[in-house]
Amino acid sequence: GSHVQPTVMGEHTRIHGLGLISVVIFGLSQVSYLRGSLTHANLSDKSIDMRRSVRCWPLLARLRTSLGPHRGNLGIRSASLRSSALESSKTSGKVISPPLALGERFSVAPMMDYTDRHFRFLLRMITKKAWLYTEMITSEALIHGDADRLLRYHDPIEHPVALQLGGSDPDSLAKGVKKALPYAYDAINLNCGCPSDKVSGRGSFGAALMKEPDYTAVLCESMIQQAAATDTPVSVKCRIGVDENDDYHYLKQFVTALGDVGVRHFIIHARKAILNMNLSPKQNREIPPLKYQYVHRLVVDFPSYSFVLNGGVKSLEEADEFLKAGVAGVMVGREIINRPWYWGDVDRRLFGVENPRLSRREILGNYSAYAVVEMERDPRLGISTVLKPVQHLFVGERGARAYRRTIAELSAKKVAVDEILKAAINCIGDQDLDQRWP
Ligand SMILES: Cc1cc2nc3c(=O)[nH]c(=O)nc-3n(C[C@H](O)[C@H](O)[C@H](O)COP(=O)(O)O)c2cc1C
Repeated sequence: GSHVQPTVMGEHTRIHGLGLISVVIFGLSQVSYLRGSLTHANLSDKSIDMRRSVRCWPLLARLRTSLGPHRGNLGIRSASLRSSALESSKTSGKVISPPLALGERFSVAPMMDYTDRHFRFLLRMITKKAWLYTEMITSEALIHGDADRLLRYHDPIEHPVALQLGGSDPDSLAKGVKKALPYAYDAINLNCGCPSDKVSGRGSFGAALMKEPDYTAVLCESMIQQAAATDTPVSVKCRIGVDENDDYHYLKQFVTALGDVGVRHFIIHARKAILNMNLSPKQNREIPPLKYQYVHRLVVDFPSYSFVLNGGVKSLEEADEFLKAGVAGVMVGREIINRPWYWGDVDRRLFGVENPRLSRREILGNYSAYAVVEMERDPRLGISTVLKPVQHLFVGERGARAYRRTIAELSAKKVAVDEILKAAINCIGDQDLDQRWP
């Protein structure tokens, strides 16, 4: 049927891309195994999507690890394609991306394999005001894959929620935006900070886009024009530089180029990406030094644009200081995964409104009911996927390790999800279970 065909075609495209990288990483014999397992997957279940299959096969999982948390479109574009795209953009009319309807004072960073809708459901019991982001979704996945599965979210409770797209082709990104508009995300963000493209050795994706400000501007313009249909803001998440292009002047040029095509909202991960030294994505989040002063300079140099600072923020106090220093917002990633409960005071402290004030007993009660329904609705949803968001809920408290171990062990035994949570809660004392933020 017409539904199956594009999915299968999309997978062939991606198999080709993965095959290319595999030559480098594993050698030819493994490539044929890789192709074999993918072909097998296609035969056994035509609707299986790449995100699932990556989880299922060990070799693909290894490939995924080597690609880091970001993966997807690894196509290589030719210079002529680029210049024709640049040419055609010069003739088109200019649209300015509207400001974000709700201020992004605080946001939870997009994180592959973490910020899925289950994690966002949990987060909404911790903060009602923080902006939430999807995991990065490639425009190619939206075009060739199961777009509804990738795009649907818990409307309306997840708002404000932004979709992050990854891609390197103006038409594909426009198509991706078009598919996303009916879902009414509060913003659509282009990933210009993901370092994983180093694997392909040819930069045209994520942080590599920062090497080509004019071309990235074409991508943004294409997205902005499409998103104008519903007045959806288009924002950009980038690093402060890439490889040798790491002085402030370069960053300013990059922001200027995107500003010229109408981008008004930027999220700046305040360290550069190093693409030419074979760092893993994880190393690329740790080794390049943080240079917050670059973000502060942008705030001064582009007073009508808004800048969200990201990278290394560990506490509400730190976030508050950055806000007082003039940035429009602060985005936090790893610390939210590591200790989600801590951020239950963010609505009061940073937005000046009441916290949700749910205890963790209440949160887990709600989450348990939610997980049962989700698993009934979606037979493909695994227990560990649906329970991953709650695993760090008691970090630092007595019994936290037993809590996590209980979840892991009972998940492996395929015990019912509500029974697992009931057993896990028993590891935690009443005082911690019933604690509330002010
Ligand atoms: C597991 C993981 C996955 C990530 N996935 C994405 C992603 O899909 N898109 C993106 O723009 N950044 C991604 N990042 C980077 C974060 O959004 C953020 O920029 C980075 O972690 C720095 O912020 P932090 O120091 O508060 O963690 C990821 C980071 C982690 C740890």
